[in-house]
Amino acid sequence: MNAERAVAASTHIIEARNVSKYFPIRQGLLSRVVGHVKAVDGVSLAIGRGETFGLVGESGCGKSTLGRVLLQLQSATAGEVLFDGTSLQERSASQIRDLRQHMQIIFQDPMGSLNPRFLVRDIIGEPLRIHRKLRARELDERVASLMELVGLDASRRNRYPHEFSGGQRQRIGIARAIALTPSFIVADEAVSALDVSVQSQIVNLLAMLQQQLGIAYLFIAHGLNVVRHLSDRVGVMYLGKLVEVSPTDELYRQPLHPYTVALLSAVPRPNPSDKRQRIVLQGDVPSPANPPTGCRFHPRCPYAQTRCRQEEPLLRTVNSGGHQVACHYHL
Ligand SMILES: Nc1ncnc2c1ncn2[C@@H]1O[C@H](COP(=O)(O)OP(=O)(O)OP(=O)(O)O)[C@@H](O)[C@H]1O
Ligand code: SF4
Ligand SMILES: [Mg+2]
Repeated sequence: MNAERAVAASTHIIEARNVSKYFPIRQGLLSRVVGHVKAVDGVSLAIGRGETFGLVGESGCGKSTLGRVLLQLQSATAGEVLFDGTSLQERSASQIRDLRQHMQIIFQDPMGSLNPRFLVRDIIGEPLRIHRKLRARELDERVASLMELVGLDASRRNRYPHEFSGGQRQRIGIARAIALTPSFIVADEAVSALDVSVQSQIVNLLAMLQQQLGIAYLFIAHGLNVVRHLSDRVGVMYLGKLVEVSPTDELYRQPLHPYTVALLSAVPRPNPSDKRQRIVLQGDVPSPANPPTGCRFHPRCPYAQTRCRQEEPLLRTVNSGGHQVACHYHL
């Protein structure tokens, strides 16, 4: 390992540099491209080894697309993704396939992502069979220990997914995701479909696995309350852009972007005497095919001024703790 790579390996496991993902909009008989959905538009972000980065924002703001581009499940339209300090754009397709072992995804709907015709044993064992080529007995032992690690009864490995509860199915998805001991996992709304009590069990499981295995997470959710307990830092997305990034405690104590304040206004406060300003969001999210000029939040922002309609605010660092905000007049 050369010196440059050693430095990279000690810091970030995954990094996006000015990454964009545009989807073409096609119309007519000839499927002419008439525009683009700017799902992710110039996002830069670096996640440290063993770090949890919470990503929040309203539906359609580009969270899943960003997660998929980081995992190379979709290619970026522009910009660069680095895994463990090396640009993925410079790797061949077969190298990226190999790298997939180190990067995994957990989905919202465990039922939809688990093949209903496969035994749980085969679902969890599939990545091991493909990448590790274990013999039947070793495979069986490894699947049993993975099931126990995620809190499942290993004696149930010869059953089908539908014989398990929603929370247990999510544990099956997690066991499969960690089978190859990845260093980065995108948890895309991994707990959103579960009951609140089951949600906290799965969040605790993810935290325990992180401690044991040193995994970094991109933990995607709609709301700020879900990401709070697991995340070291939180990023807030709006219409394809990161508008605020902050260490978690600081974001909840002192949100700077009006959109973050609005999202936090929707979270019940434990202390009713908390007199922090509230912003109630008006209107819908504009289309990412035709985002507003200047600051994309300006049509919904109570503080918008002429400059906001004309000039796009850049994400800039406002203190030594790494708090970043994209607003001309951060609060
Ligand atoms: N394959 C695709 N083709 C065309 N448009 C797409 C595609 N995938 C996503 N989009 C569009 O890109 C935008 C961002 O979608 P994305 O799924 O990343 O948002 P999200 O923040 O994950 O939303 P949600 O919270 O609903 O999961 C949306 O406008 C969506 O319609
Ligand atoms: S730049 Fe202007 S419109 Fe955008 S969030 Fe800040 S005050 Fe609101
Ligand atoms: Mg999504």
